[in-house]
Amino acid sequence: PLADHVRLVEVGPRDGLQNEKQSIPAETKTELVRRLARTGLETIEAGSFVAPKWVPQMAASDQVLSSILSNPPTSPHPITYQWLLPNSKGLDNMLKTMNNSNSSSGYPTPPPSPNMPSSSGYPTPPPSPDPQDSGPALNTSSMDPNAMSSSTSGVDSMTQARRTNTSAPTQKHEASIFLAATESFSKKNTNCTIQESLDRFAPLMTSSRAAGHPVRAYISVALGCPFEGPDTNPHTVADLAIKLLEMGATEISVADTTGMGTAPTTRKLLQTLKEAGVLTEDLAMHFHDTFGQALVNTLVSLEHGVRTFDCAVGGLGGCPYSPGATGNVATEDLVYLMRSLGAETGVSLEEVSRIGDWITGEIGKGNGSSAGRATMAR
Ligand code: HMG
Ligand code: MG
Repeated sequence: PLADHVRLVEVGPRDGLQNEKQSIPAETKTELVRRLARTGLETIEAGSFVAPKWVPQMAASDQVLSSILSNPPTSPHPITYQWLLPNSKGLDNMLKTMNNSNSSSGYPTPPPSPNMPSSSGYPTPPPSPDPQDSGPALNTSSMDPNAMSSSTSGVDSMTQARRTNTSAPTQKHEASIFLAATESFSKKNTNCTIQESLDRFAPLMTSSRAAGHPVRAYISVALGCPFEGPDTNPHTVADLAIKLLEMGATEISVADTTGMGTAPTTRKLLQTLKEAGVLTEDLAMHFHDTFGQALVNTLVSLEHGVRTFDCAVGGLGGCPYSPGATGNVATEDLVYLMRSLGAETGVSLEEVSRIGDWITGEIGKGNGSSAGRATMAR
């Protein structure tokens, strides 16, 4: 097969719902996360802590997080939940919610990732301060107390907990940050320049890692911008990817926000990233399917060695600040594609198809997944 294993990052509860105009009850959002957790997915982006004036739909993300912590979703294996953050206020709100939640799960947020020598060759960022003796720079009042409970490495403590605790850890939580490859989109989406984004995220990443929450980073409009056109400079994307990895990002999600990307532009972008020294194992691709090219671009990315792909059940999604952009590539379509290629995702096509059918019905939209509709019609 082209790939043995492919990791799908389900962004439906965040990217999928953020652009819906009618208010969706927090219970529906939580139920979506709970259903997705049962399908075999490993990673779910469950909400965002952005300014509610900018994206009102995501205002209830604290309720979703509280619910997950106090009553952990059932899942066949531990799940990593991601929370999109635009600034340090978002991180503070995420950590406050964690502190205030009644965590009955034995949920051991791993302590900060030790500064393992990077196999990638990116210069590693300075060590995260140990939360146990955190200095004045850290806002300890908003830190997760669970993060302070162990001095062993994250991996060790998780393994230990699994061995000794009958209620093994079912969840980990990570931050995701986002910036843009064009100045116009940066201004529209986050009201700041690209450089100001980098300056904003540097302290956020240090604090998040120190609190035990690794950080993934999105680069928006990597294959075209709604305001500057289809020719985003791939070297700008590569420079940003390197900077974010140097700042400590665990993964770069390269986003085709507008869905303008094509097989040739995707190929060119991936070649440029490789030539700049970015390793494909540090990359995820985030395709919106506005022009119907997402599966083709996924195949090109697979051929270039990428093994992590973002997707949204039912093909939900769209960025409120990218006019006309439609949903993410559907989870069902990616599962079907990977299955045809012999690449294992661990995700049940039948189960995600049922969820896609349910959630699009709940919010009164057509099911955007061809594979999902076909599976349901069987
Ligand atoms: P701003 O207006 O410049 O910020 O927005 P500000 O610091 O002046 O604050 C304005 C108000 O927002 C203040 O409240 C702040 O307290 C509040 P007021 O005093 O007026 O009552 N505020 C917050 N409240 C809650 N949580 C926060 C927060 N921050 C400020 N975190 C800002 C700047 C970055 C905050 C804003 O532009 C923003 O939130 N943007 C997010 C937009 C967004 O969520 N877009 C969609 C997600 S990105 C996406 O979809 C792309 C992706 O899928 C990849 C791809 O496809 O490209 C990831
Ligand atoms: Mg998106």
